[in-house]
Amino acid sequence: MDNKEVVVVVDFGGQYNQLIARRVRENHVYCEVYPYHKAVSKIKELQPQGIIFTGGPASVYEEKAPKIEEKVFQLGIPVLGLCYGMQFMAQTLGGEVEQADMREFGKTAISVDTASPLFKGLQEQETVWMSHTDYVAKIPADFEIIAHTENCPVAAMQNKAKKLYAMQYHPEVLHTEHGKEMLHNFLFEVCGCTGSWTMANYAKTAINTIRKTIGNGKVVLALSGGVDSSVAAALISKAVGSQLTCIFVDHGLLRKNEGDEVEAAFQNSGMKFVRVDASDRFLGKLKGVSEPERKRKIIGEEFIRVFEEEGRKIGTVDYLAQGTIYPDVIESGAGDAAVIKSHHNVGGLPAVVDFKGLIEPLRNLFKDEVRELGAELGLPEYLVWRQPFPGPGLAIRVMGEITTDKLAVLRDADAIFREEIANAGLNRSINQYFAVLTSNRTVGVMGDFRTYDYTLALRGVTTTDFMTADWARIPYDVLDKISSRIVNEVDHINRIVYDITSKPPATIEWE
Ligand code: XMP
Repeated sequence: MDNKEVVVVVDFGGQYNQLIARRVRENHVYCEVYPYHKAVSKIKELQPQGIIFTGGPASVYEEKAPKIEEKVFQLGIPVLGLCYGMQFMAQTLGGEVEQADMREFGKTAISVDTASPLFKGLQEQETVWMSHTDYVAKIPADFEIIAHTENCPVAAMQNKAKKLYAMQYHPEVLHTEHGKEMLHNFLFEVCGCTGSWTMANYAKTAINTIRKTIGNGKVVLALSGGVDSSVAAALISKAVGSQLTCIFVDHGLLRKNEGDEVEAAFQNSGMKFVRVDASDRFLGKLKGVSEPERKRKIIGEEFIRVFEEEGRKIGTVDYLAQGTIYPDVIESGAGDAAVIKSHHNVGGLPAVVDFKGLIEPLRNLFKDEVRELGAELGLPEYLVWRQPFPGPGLAIRVMGEITTDKLAVLRDADAIFREEIANAGLNRSINQYFAVLTSNRTVGVMGDFRTYDYTLALRGVTTTDFMTADWARIPYDVLDKISSRIVNEVDHINRIVYDITSKPPATIEWE
């Protein structure tokens, strides 16, 4: 990508690495995150305007503490060290880091030197978010202290001539009241950025790059109707028009009317769009299967098979396009986390067929940037603001064995739930919400009759990253309306429960 301006975030294992990158990009400055051991070669290659070191859980004086080569401070590129990043900078350049008797944690009053470019336009007293045990006890020669708190003698330091800056607190979290301004100051006052990175520019550059890469070749993309694959499709289609074919595999596990909606959105969009109705195949394979991981595996494999068959009908295909986004790219470097659920993504297909190459035009974007790009490209709002929907679809929301009857019950109930959440104006504030058909049956009474029917569970969560989530506080009157509508309008449900567990310990989906 030919961005004029780029900032490199060096990840020392801090929990806020992605957040820092988001905050930089909010200033219309493009930035990329690299783990500390790969950062120096990337910095040489990219020649960034600035470098930001994240925090991290280690102590700089531990033997295995993450480090990057000292020459990073001699390149003439401005550096901002945060928390661990600050301690690393201090120790490497001749200062001293010590362990404090007590951890300093939470919102803290801080006195800042407003003559420092970092604090331009701010008050002498600010509130910041502290979270550290180690602290800089002695600053390196040629540095000066530019902020302190009651317990922390060096809350920020600078070497103005060498453009090296550091803060002991987290400017990236919202608890630091003017954290945004501090980062803005670093980017614009220190690094000299101009903030020229916009989605319109991104789209223009990406379209040119895609055109150059693909030439006269043919591309296929597995379209799920989700935000990422839809935006990728729109972008590639702008670049190469009918050289792109989108294959939409309808596995029969979509929500009510979903298949038709996706088809309607894409059919007259100028790209080649193929809808494959494979529901019988999928449901056939899933017959009698109730174990969640088995269901996921079967769907993943069958998906690949269908996609492959359709791909062959197109003839030779040069490129496979995927809607991979930046968090997937950053996280895939993270190592061997335990497999909680084997996620099936329509994007996970590269091993399938022989392609010359992969096209992943969103691999540098965060989710909300993907939405912004979608809007920029003129995609309809309901596609751009879609909540996530898992690749295996309703198969993991019907507990136990899947039947067409159960799917029909769940579809109707889920549609009512979604409709009422939208009616209550909650569809943007609750990040994901859906119904789950449990395999539990209980006794109820309807009119004068005894019923023995299914329990439906409702799930709603608020989250930013979907890795942790809180259960959504849906108002009782909204829940009440949803409950009575579902029980009255959908046969075979006589009891409704609301899931009030967070993630962790629960997960968002039930299977
Ligand atoms: P869990 O249930 O793991 O879900 O807390 C986290 C987020 O991921 C979605 N999800 C999936 N998405 N393929 C996907 O593309 C999958 O197999 C899959 N399983 C879960 C889930 O809906 C939630 O947003």
